[in-house]
Amino acid sequence: MAKPSLAFLSSCFLLLTVITLSVAEAPDPAIHDTFLKCLTNNTKTTSEELAKIVFAQSNPSFTTALQDFARNKRFTTPQTPKPLLLVTPLQESHVQGAVICAKAAKLQMRIRSGGHDYDGLSYVSKEPFMILDMSKLNAITIDVKAQTAVVQPGVTTGELYYKISEKSKLHGFSAAVCPTVGLGGHISGGGYGNMLRNFGLTVDNVIDAKIVDAKGNLLDKKSMGEDLFWAIRGGGGASFGVVVSFTLKLLPVPAKVTVFSTERGMDEKMSDFVVEWQKVAPVTDKRLFLRLLLQPGGNSVKASIMAMFVGGADELVSLMAKEFPLLGLKKENCTEVSWIESVLWWSDIKSLENGEKPEILMERKPNSAKFLKRKSDYIQKPISKDGWEMIFKRIIEIGDTGLTFNPYGGKMDEVAPDATPFPHRKGNLFKVQYSVSWNEAGKDETYTNKANRLYNLMTPYVSKNPRSAFFCYRDVDNGVNTFGANSYKEGEVYGIRYFKTNFERLVKVKTAVDPENFFRNEQSIPVLSAKA
Ligand SMILES: Cc1cc2nc3c(=O)[nH]c(=O)nc-3n(C[C@H](O)[C@H](O)[C@H](O)COP(=O)(O)OP(=O)(O)OC[C@H]3O[C@@H](n4cnc5c(N)ncnc54)[C@H](O)[C@@H]3O)c2cc1C
Ligand SMILES: *[C@@H]1O[C@H](CO)[C@@H](O)[C@H](O)[C@H]1NC(C)=O
Ligand SMILES: *[C@@H]1O[C@H](CO)[C@@H](O)[C@H](O)[C@H]1NC(C)=O
Repeated sequence: MAKPSLAFLSSCFLLLTVITLSVAEAPDPAIHDTFLKCLTNNTKTTSEELAKIVFAQSNPSFTTALQDFARNKRFTTPQTPKPLLLVTPLQESHVQGAVICAKAAKLQMRIRSGGHDYDGLSYVSKEPFMILDMSKLNAITIDVKAQTAVVQPGVTTGELYYKISEKSKLHGFSAAVCPTVGLGGHISGGGYGNMLRNFGLTVDNVIDAKIVDAKGNLLDKKSMGEDLFWAIRGGGGASFGVVVSFTLKLLPVPAKVTVFSTERGMDEKMSDFVVEWQKVAPVTDKRLFLRLLLQPGGNSVKASIMAMFVGGADELVSLMAKEFPLLGLKKENCTEVSWIESVLWWSDIKSLENGEKPEILMERKPNSAKFLKRKSDYIQKPISKDGWEMIFKRIIEIGDTGLTFNPYGGKMDEVAPDATPFPHRKGNLFKVQYSVSWNEAGKDETYTNKANRLYNLMTPYVSKNPRSAFFCYRDVDNGVNTFGANSYKEGEVYGIRYFKTNFERLVKVKTAVDPENFFRNEQSIPVLSAKA
């Protein structure tokens, strides 16, 4: 077998590119002053202090503040609409004040924590808008005895993992593989990671939350009530308010976990291999996550597996000998590492060989965006060998777009589909991600068309009625809201795809807590009064 070349798997640490953009529009100085006065009136912080967290377009730091956490280069071009203000709260009261003052100034508010929204909805709007940038609200409090962590929304997954490992080698958390993802969007959207078959989603392990509502009230689980607490665990925070903290349940991990990766080419009975993988991955021991990646390269396609076993290598090797003999896994193929080292390996497969230390997870990698498009699907029926061969052919034909298959099952089957807004539980074998990334400006259409073509060709193999999608993999092709007379009908289109029958309950919650639809974006939950 060929020596694996797995560089492309390190999709988290993107190329470091320096972009310098000039701020085009002449800024309106009045809005800055009015907003600052309002904020001074509505918080106990002095206007001198507040002046440091309110950035008008004329502020020399505006562009840096805007672009550091804009994680898709498609939305950092000179043509991209810019916010009139960017505000970086340092305390919860600043968030409360910002909501009151944005309303008073008739500015739409976009909330951004880590800025990983694939279609940029957290930092771009067609209406006059401000960005509430939560990146500085990034405190983490870990209580090993109580087995809890309280995190502010600006915390990244990497920071959370590192801070847990500092306090305990026997605890972890089940969230995104990529260490720069922000917890504000990730948890409120129902994010997952490589331990989902063992522990479920982020939202399955949230025990409390604090949110600022449309009136500027600060609410916790008790004061927000059951419905709102349900909605912000997967329904997306941005439809309901500004999440200012989550309390998480720490999860037990063993002293050593096991990781491995392997790769097959077309000439290595790839379809038999993938069919075999398909039988095993969604039903095997819930501690095992066998991610499959299909990636075009030249005139061919490669199948790779990246795997995580929350246990030791001996146990994994005998499990695979029994269930997945075609894999041919030997102990020498496995790496036993501490849980925090496994986080490094997943973020960059070369990191351990290169001697990197977990401290690197504290780095935020600002301004490191690529141009990208992502889409998602769910697979509910096994794909035949012919089907897989067809898929390989299409991937080669279209080029540049890869597919990642994340097996479900395990804990994902045990949680009721209406326990949280995330509906894709029992009955789903895999979630698929379509991914295409590029480095050249002005090529958006060329590359997004490739992803769309592959998505269309996958129709026979994926869920239908609705063709469902993963909310955290934001994709405006699932439908958008224009906030006009058809707001409810428009919202239903993407709402049903992301939330299935949970959509109706989300609408009820939205209507109760934000009837004026202050918190909105192109894919927010619509209010019922807009129902035609
Ligand atoms: C490189 C990369 C890797 C990824 N890997 C994974 C993965 O392994 N697993 C997975 O599940 N997903 C993954 N994602 C998707 C990710 O979960 C979502 O993009 C998530 O929404 C990111 O959260 P954020 O705070 O960084 O994003 P943002 O862009 O800041 O926010 C995303 C959405 O949440 C809203 N929001 C953000 N903060 C708040 C808040 N405090 N209160 C209310 N609303 C808020 C925003 O307004 C926006 O609508 C990945 C994305 C990228 C770019
Ligand atoms: C701030 O408060 C003062 C006194 O209550 C009031 O006169 C003024 O209009 C307020 N300004 C803003 C911008 O809210
Ligand atoms: C395991 O390692 C051997 C020796 O390097 C290699 O030939 C084999 O392909 C590997 N197996 C897997 C599943 O990666």
